[in-house]
Amino acid sequence: MHIWAVANQKGGVGKTTTGVTLAGLLADQGFDVLLLDLDPHGSLTSYFGYDPDQLEHSAYDLFQHEGKVPASLPPNLLLNTSHDRINLIPASTAMATLERRAVGSDGMGLVVSRALTHLWDRFDYVLIDSPPVLGVLMVNALAACERLLVPVQTEFLAIKGLERMVRTLTMINRARSRKLDYYILPTFFDRRTQASVQSLRVIKQRYPDEIAQAVIPVDTKFRNASTRGVVPSALDPSTHGVRAYAMLMRSLLQIEREEQVQP
Ligand SMILES: Nc1ncnc2c1ncn2[C@@H]1O[C@H](COP(=O)(O)OP(=O)(O)OP(=O)(O)O)[C@@H](O)[C@H]1O
Ligand SMILES: [Mg+2]
Repeated sequence: MHIWAVANQKGGVGKTTTGVTLAGLLADQGFDVLLLDLDPHGSLTSYFGYDPDQLEHSAYDLFQHEGKVPASLPPNLLLNTSHDRINLIPASTAMATLERRAVGSDGMGLVVSRALTHLWDRFDYVLIDSPPVLGVLMVNALAACERLLVPVQTEFLAIKGLERMVRTLTMINRARSRKLDYYILPTFFDRRTQASVQSLRVIKQRYPDEIAQAVIPVDTKFRNASTRGVVPSALDPSTHGVRAYAMLMRSLLQIEREEQVQP
């Protein structure tokens, strides 16, 4: 099982879209995929037609064992989605209260990582969506994943936010035993606007080793897919946006293959 996460302390940069589109593309390849919604706003949960205010079980349940591994996961925790190879662990609004808890030495930062051990055989990929807040939930996502995608809007203000995120990751990497590989993913790229073109240039110059192998263009089809509750590749696999995410997925799968040969 491979675990990828999507995070950025900045809101509205395409995190949830990145998670859901990659999940769809991996599932189209025949992989069994779990989407884990760690954002109390529950955008991913709402995407698939569930109401984060009305759920009996959610990722919130995982945090009710004082940081220890629960003996089993609650039944009905995994929900179906419009794609038969994708399951969802939804978020609930109650998760907002978790952000006030400290990430102390009591294992609160490793809850997700430990809970996912129960699902090791069931899924090929887990994709974690996280809130735009550096708190318990994002720390859990960062601790659980092997690979991290950091979407960043191609505009100047977003680059400031990116610096903050990269500082956070440098700090996190000092505490991890295995280095977290992260990929900066330029999003909302519009080659007709100077701001977009120039900020992409700045990102490439500043982060030549971290920039992902794809640039995600502005594409209105993402919104159409979300209103219908289907993964973007199911709505139309040939749009510019989906093709860019497919290129990203292939580059990540290639990196994984190379790592298997040369650990
Ligand atoms: N490449 C894109 N082109 C056009 N629209 C996009 C693109 N990516 C995302 N969107 C749209 O922009 C909005 C915000 O995207 P998304 O929800 O993925 O961002 P987010 O980073 O998860 O936001 P939040 O921080 O609120 O969780 C959504 O309506 C989504 O459909
Ligand atoms: Mg989101």
